[in-house]
Amino acid sequence: MVLKICCIGAGYVGGPTCSVIALKCPDIKVVVTDKSESRIQAWNSDRLPVYEPGLDEVVKQCRGRNLFFTTDVDTAIKEADLIFISVNTPTKTFGFGKGRAADLRYIEAAGRRIAEVAKSSKIVVEKSTVPVRAAESINNILKANTKPGVSFQVLSNPEFLAEGSAINDLLHPDRILIGGEQTEEGREAVQKLCCIYKHWIPEEKILTMNTWSSELTKLAANAFLAQRISAINSISAICEATGADITEVAHGIGTDSRIGPKFLTASVGFGGSCFQKDVLNIVYLSECLNLPAVAAFWHQVIEMNNFQRTRFARRITEKLFNTVAGKNIAVFGFAFKKDTGDTRESPAIYICKHLLEEGANLHVYDPKVPEQQIRIDLTYSEGIEDCFKVDQQVTVCTDPYSAAVNTHAIVLCTEWDEFLGLDYKKIYDSMFKPAFLFDGRKMLSIENLQKIGFHVETIGVKTSRIQNRNVADA
Ligand code: NAD
Ligand code: UGA
Repeated sequence: MVLKICCIGAGYVGGPTCSVIALKCPDIKVVVTDKSESRIQAWNSDRLPVYEPGLDEVVKQCRGRNLFFTTDVDTAIKEADLIFISVNTPTKTFGFGKGRAADLRYIEAAGRRIAEVAKSSKIVVEKSTVPVRAAESINNILKANTKPGVSFQVLSNPEFLAEGSAINDLLHPDRILIGGEQTEEGREAVQKLCCIYKHWIPEEKILTMNTWSSELTKLAANAFLAQRISAINSISAICEATGADITEVAHGIGTDSRIGPKFLTASVGFGGSCFQKDVLNIVYLSECLNLPAVAAFWHQVIEMNNFQRTRFARRITEKLFNTVAGKNIAVFGFAFKKDTGDTRESPAIYICKHLLEEGANLHVYDPKVPEQQIRIDLTYSEGIEDCFKVDQQVTVCTDPYSAAVNTHAIVLCTEWDEFLGLDYKKIYDSMFKPAFLFDGRKMLSIENLQKIGFHVETIGVKTSRIQNRNVADA
């Protein structure tokens, strides 16, 4: 029976996942570890390092009872019966597979640490998203360093939570996937992990399979989801050119029960730390397996996402009379989706960089992303730091109204609920005219904004048609 769990990696997955395990399994001691002092300090404070609706309450309930956060990785490993590896697996930025393959150095470091300090047998669970057969590498590292009397079973147990709804996803998952070795010891380890989840998840939702199927299922699930967004975004481009409306088309498609309505919201492109990384992972895997047609198929999902972001950024410049140099533009939302403070691969970064390169001054507002993070994202990520001056061109605002004052346009990048309830008349009055609003999330009423006087441009809609119609109607 598992009585003590250690988790290596206290990020968006390790922290919330283990908090929910601690909540639902009061008989198990859960110790979440990280090499980052500041992250652990934050987990032990009133200001958690991850913003997730409902997370504060869960942590408050369990912290100090059976949930602990520490940088003392070694002690936690030694004490644990079962160890989750929840470290980051970003895309490689160097060497073979650069820009495609997963960088597995953190996984390997965690594996080596376990091998080095463990004095008793452990179940080691891959929770991070990894390439197919990564468990084999972990196994090899562990086996090559095993002390007498110590043995390891490596399981795959990928995580399917989405940021912003993590607690709900963890409490009510569609399924739990557990992959293990098809041996007696492997099956026994799988059963022990099943027992943890059975504390709150119905047995029929816990799917067991071989390790490689489990690893590939995680990558494939993300690839399918990303593919759906690229598919609807490709149709949004056709809508903008023809006068079809993407919301109507998505509804028409989604009512087919074989297709279903979810994940059909056209947007300024998908972001987040995983979709791009995991699709690229499949591209790399396919290339390595000499399956170029498969690689090309999945790569197109990324190409379409890049196209969508660039298309939107260009549309902004074009509509603002082909120049944004010296113009002030308010950016509403910087996180990659609502209800998270995470900005990894956020489409807002790409849009902002495009506008900065064109010489615009940006007034950025996001309810959850700290100013420092916005500045880091606009300054340091990939290659084009010197083309513009973030210090001079970017102002980070604490509310949307002040962000909009004396701007030529608003660019809505993240679908935060609070943007629905703003006083757009007040905002309009504070802007230069003509006042433009570019809705990258198709969340605001075009008609209402037009009545106020805004020139509105929305993803998936040929706006001029609506404006002409309104003029004719009037
Ligand atoms: P993250 O970057 O937020 O957290 C990873 C943490 O691991 C960091 O705090 C880092 O300091 C720590 N770490 C790295 N190496 C370590 C080591 N050797 N010892 C101790 N700590 C170490 O990443 P994340 O978003 O939590 O993602 C983790 C994994 O889960 C990734 O593989 C990701 O693909 C996958 N995943 C993420 C999500 C999500 O919504 N973010 C959802 C499902 C799966
Ligand atoms: C995604 C998956 O949904 C999770 O199941 C998975 O566990 C996770 O990746 C992961 O492996 O990291 P996440 O990236 O947190 O979760 O958030 P999503 O809700 O999937 O949104 C991803 C991006 O797609 C966001 O930028 C979102 O705005 C965009 N999106 C989503 C759309 O543009 N349209 C949609 O219809 C849905």
